[in-house]
Amino acid sequence: MSFLQRTATCGALRPHNAGQSVVLNGWVHARRDYGGINFIDIRDRYGITQIVVHPDTHPQIAERAKTLRSEWVVWVRGTVRMRENPNPRIPTGLVEVVVDDIGVINEAALTPFEIVDDLQTNEELRLTHRYLDLRRPDLQRNFLLRNKLYQSTHAFFAQHDFVEVETPILTKSTPEGARDFLVPSRINKGRFYALPQSPQLFKQLLMVAGFDRYMQIVKCFRDEDLRADRQPEFTQIDVEMSFVKQDDIIALTEQFISRVWKDLANFDVPLPLPRITYADALNTYGSDKPDLRYALPLQDCTDVAASTSFTVFSAAVAEGGVVKALVASGCASYSRKQMDELTEHAKKYGAGGLPWLRMVNGEVGGSFAKALAEGEAQRLMQALGAVEGDLVLFAAGEWERSCTVLGALRVELARRLDLTSAASAPYAMLWVTEFPLLEYAAEEERWVARHHPFTSPMDEDVALLSTDPSKARAIAHDLVINGYEAAGGSIRIHQNSVQQTMFGLLGFGAEEAQARFGFLLDALQYGAPPHGGIAFGFDRLVMLLCGSDNIRDVIAFPKTTSGLSLMDGCPSDVDANQLRDLGIGILGGKDE
Ligand code: AMO
Repeated sequence: MSFLQRTATCGALRPHNAGQSVVLNGWVHARRDYGGINFIDIRDRYGITQIVVHPDTHPQIAERAKTLRSEWVVWVRGTVRMRENPNPRIPTGLVEVVVDDIGVINEAALTPFEIVDDLQTNEELRLTHRYLDLRRPDLQRNFLLRNKLYQSTHAFFAQHDFVEVETPILTKSTPEGARDFLVPSRINKGRFYALPQSPQLFKQLLMVAGFDRYMQIVKCFRDEDLRADRQPEFTQIDVEMSFVKQDDIIALTEQFISRVWKDLANFDVPLPLPRITYADALNTYGSDKPDLRYALPLQDCTDVAASTSFTVFSAAVAEGGVVKALVASGCASYSRKQMDELTEHAKKYGAGGLPWLRMVNGEVGGSFAKALAEGEAQRLMQALGAVEGDLVLFAAGEWERSCTVLGALRVELARRLDLTSAASAPYAMLWVTEFPLLEYAAEEERWVARHHPFTSPMDEDVALLSTDPSKARAIAHDLVINGYEAAGGSIRIHQNSVQQTMFGLLGFGAEEAQARFGFLLDALQYGAPPHGGIAFGFDRLVMLLCGSDNIRDVIAFPKTTSGLSLMDGCPSDVDANQLRDLGIGILGGKDE
């Protein structure tokens, strides 16, 4: 079919174009009929332009214009002129195109939702027709910003002498961390590739190979439970450097982040970023990814609490636990329902219940006030600096869990009190360091690496590996932005013997370590340089830059939280023949 090709986009025309004859191509965004005069908004990815069709000068075209429906694809030829009623909200709003001729390139069925910003429709419908959802200007803006981030990233790392190297997508399964997505091999029946959870080992091997500075914008795959900030396939900016110390990695990352935030958000990142240890982050904010746009710190009241008559506190302390508290200013008026909601929230994070006190009209009351002896409630409130109108939430027991429970309540209270809107800056960034190297997996009855098994212990903690591994800290660093883990990395083990000790600690015998990671152990014998790096969650950076709290808003074709692609219906059945070729049968039949 023939159509007139555009001479301008729908975002291009300005007053200096007045008088010019132009052709536009695009989608019918909206049509308004004012006493026979048709005003039609034509949209493409560059913007929206108003066109006008006059029935007295062009009666036939006016008739044709009346038949146009939303989302039809059209061409329009006309003359640019200044608008009588300018629209200051759009860049083309000072001009319009008076139509000489118009043609339909393709009709469109009635769309299941309107192609507008601030769409109020359910996400399932949007994801099922994602190509229509992606037409919406606000989503298009997200992807244009995402595109800028690719470019800034490549430019920055190229300027700093990094080499981009592609690493394999079909890799060896080395399960540690999340579950692998497996790909069966047809020509090696019964064997499987795994999709990479990250290119971690490959980038280390590239350091052994002498590339010195590597980066890659790379897809990673993890079969884990999904959340608003997690997808099963996501993108990392993966970085590794040789002959560096942790401070070098942190300094380079800070330069990168400050460049990107300046270029893409016009925000001056105050450098250097604050650093906080894992222990302090947990103690003060109850999280290893604290949102520092607001204060709301946790407090420790173990000593005062232990001396009260409330047995929940004294028992927790007798067992070596702690009592932590969170003072919520002005929340003493929370209703029974609100307190029940907070209690449910605390329980999700492992609390048995939620003890609380509040001060109203100088009196202290609360969930366990009756269990306290004369003056104890006042003493607790005083120790915490709580005053009239304050609500105090408590968590008692094991340190990490008590901190985490109050950390979750801290985020929930900030949400309810809308504390982020009152923040002095739109972004709060920090480093969290000195993570524990290991954590104990009770079900497996063994230590597992907290980050990954290739992370180096801190020099001063190496001896702890043989005496008290739980206390060993890692040379690891997470970059946290507005409560999201935006990047994570570490200095790696570069000595074969240390890596073997680490595998031993994780419960792998020499044979198993060789079978799983022999290629790494071998490589470490051939002159591995000291090295370390970091990986940024690319989608999370875009999400933060777009001000979204949903990772699906910045991934073109995302999965739902159940791992489904509603548009194309994957994962889907495959032919029996395909399975036969792979030698695969489904135990117990497939899920319906
Ligand atoms: P890590 O597992 O911390 O480290 O991942 C690095 C960053 O990737 C992002 N991320 C995700 N984004 C979206 N969906 C997910 N499912 C998801 N999982 C992780 C986070 C995270 O900070 N190889 C190491 C890096 C290193 O040590 O250099 C690694 O992958 O923003």
